[in-house]
Amino acid sequence: MHFLITAGPTREPIDPVRYLSNRSSGKMGYAIAEAALEAGHQVTLLSGPVVISAPEGATLIRVETAKEMYDAVSECIPGCDVAVFCAAVADYRVETVAGEKIKKLADRLTLTLVKNPDILGSARSVFGFGGILVGFAAETTDLARHAVEKLERKQCDLLVANDVSRTDIAFDREVNEVTLFFRNGSQENLPLSSKREIAHTLITRIESLR
Ligand code: CTP
Repeated sequence: MHFLITAGPTREPIDPVRYLSNRSSGKMGYAIAEAALEAGHQVTLLSGPVVISAPEGATLIRVETAKEMYDAVSECIPGCDVAVFCAAVADYRVETVAGEKIKKLADRLTLTLVKNPDILGSARSVFGFGGILVGFAAETTDLARHAVEKLERKQCDLLVANDVSRTDIAFDREVNEVTLFFRNGSQENLPLSSKREIAHTLITRIESLR
C-alpha cells in the first residue's frame, strides 16, 4: 500500500526571525514511516522541521507551516491508500506576519492568531479521501471521551490517543504508550514500549483494516 504520513511540528512565522511552534520531535511519525517501509509499503513522508533524518526509501517532502502542509497533503493524498496524520500541526497562525524583525519598543505586544485549516479534518470532506484514515490525539484529560469524539468528527478508521500530561512518554521521548480507538467501537491499549515497537504494531493493525 502507499502510505502518506505527516510528522513533526509546524512552524508559524511571527516575523523573519521568530515563529510559534510546539514540542513535537517527529520521532513517532518517522518511526511509523520506517515500520511501513520495513513491511514492504511505499511511503511519502510529509514533515515539518525536525532534526532527525528520514528513513531510506521514503519520499520526503519538507514543509514549514500548516498551510504548506495542507497544500502538500491535498496534492499527495489522491495517490495514497493509507493516510496517517501524526504531525503536531499548529492550531493557530499569526494573522499578519511582520515583514521586518519586530523591535522591542512597546512594553506589551499583542499577536492576533487565526485558526489554521484542519488537515486531518479535511481528508474526507475536502480532499475526498476514501482510503484508511488514521488520526492522532494528544490529550491531557478525558482521553477516551476526546478520542472517540475526534475519531467520529474527523471520520477516521483508527485514532491513536496519547496522554500528554505524562512527562515519561510522548513528546521528544524514545518511548510511548497509546490507546487505539477503532471505528467499530473497539479499543486496544499498547503498553509502554519504544516508538519503533508501537509503530510496528500500528502498521499491523492498519494492514488488518484493509
Ligand atoms: N491535525 C491536522 N491539522 C490541524 C490540527 C490537527 O491534521 N490543523 C491532526 C493531527 O495531525 C492529529 C489530529 O488532527 O492527527 C488531532 O489533532 P488535535 O489538535 O489534537 O485535534 P483538534 O481536533 O484540533 O482538537 P483540540 O485541539 O481541540 O484538542
